[in-house]
Amino acid sequence: MQSLLNKKIVLGISGGIAAYKTPELARLLMQEGASVQVVMTEAAQQFVTPVTMQALTGNPVYTSQWDSSIANNMAHIELSRSADVILIAPTSADLMAKLSLGLADDLLSTLCLARDCPLLLAPAMNKQMWEHAATQRSAERLEKDGVTLLGPASGFQACGEVGMGRMLEPTEIAEQVIAFFQKKTLLGKKVLITAGPTFEAIDPVRGITNHSSGKMGFAIARAALEAGAQVHLIAGPCELPTPLETTGKITRTNVVSAKEMHATALANVDYDLFFAVAAVADWGIAKPAKEKMKRQGASTPTIEFVANPDILLDVAKLVKTKGGKPYPYCVGFAAESTDLEKHADEKRKRKGIPMIVGNIGPETFGSDLNQLVIIDASGSKKTAKAEKLHLARQLIGLVAKKI
Ligand code: CTP
Repeated sequence: MQSLLNKKIVLGISGGIAAYKTPELARLLMQEGASVQVVMTEAAQQFVTPVTMQALTGNPVYTSQWDSSIANNMAHIELSRSADVILIAPTSADLMAKLSLGLADDLLSTLCLARDCPLLLAPAMNKQMWEHAATQRSAERLEKDGVTLLGPASGFQACGEVGMGRMLEPTEIAEQVIAFFQKKTLLGKKVLITAGPTFEAIDPVRGITNHSSGKMGFAIARAALEAGAQVHLIAGPCELPTPLETTGKITRTNVVSAKEMHATALANVDYDLFFAVAAVADWGIAKPAKEKMKRQGASTPTIEFVANPDILLDVAKLVKTKGGKPYPYCVGFAAESTDLEKHADEKRKRKGIPMIVGNIGPETFGSDLNQLVIIDASGSKKTAKAEKLHLARQLIGLVAKKI
């Protein structure tokens, strides 16, 4: 699934060392189906060549508004008219200042002023330049004018200093551009998600866990962020990166055991939506050994289990109503080996929740693909087999109408 299919992106490049990452960004945007038209300032050409960008995008690269070899010398109007978005990466301090004042003294600044599409800027500069009152003023003005700033991030800078001003990585920018185009069905809403497996320790080196990869829960977190929500993701042990971390709209709490996940989820249930996607261990170990258990000849240990709390059931017990609707609206997940719909619906009723989502197919765990059956009081609906992110977006769109 390509998330930027049929999108026309004008990719502006201004002068900054981070421009060495822009070819990779262009490639990522195109991989997602976008067509990319590059416009470069004079300074940008000191860092990356128009030939590189032309070869990558397959489109001519515009560098000047004074090019008499182009039949249409109204490129500044034309380019912005046909674009879905103008994205400038990197955006230098100088260009930010210019754009905040509405100056138009080269092709890139002129087409920003002449645009009738959204403008996204990925600033990149030395930390002193970013922190300077003049740049902060530019940033504030631009945001007031409806311009979206992607980053900057903090980290190692080309000048050897460490601090705020580093351009977001190409993957982070591409993900934010994709997010920008998604429907904002959860704007202002708060979403709680449990994801991944839990790990029940037997001793300091051994434990019981399951095959959950966390991919479905993380995809739901990303889709909720894309829809404009604020997300709290409670993750069991898994290596997945936090989705859209640089938006600052996601809090991730890493937990290990079911008990920890339960305590974190129950600490605050002031959410509009709760997705219980985690594969929570039903049983914990009654008395985990403090030291590593040693082999006792041929004899085997007896491990005593205790029941773990049911997170979804306990959150569902705290549901209130707000504007006549359940708050939080709880969505459970079920993976069954037989009679999926029957067992899942029984689970939905037993846990007192309005919706449960059944995972169809044996390859669900760890796969990027999934197929779902969505069950509520009105019946069930099967989705097509698709990427987990695609399904997560579908689910978010559906649930957004319920709250
Ligand atoms: N769940 C939970 N806490 C638990 C067990 C399950 O929050 N201790 C949630 C899961 O995140 C999922 C739903 O309940 O959304 C169903 O999980 P599942 O393991 O299929 O259900 P169980 O209630 O454990 O039933 P069983 O294992 O007997 O099928």
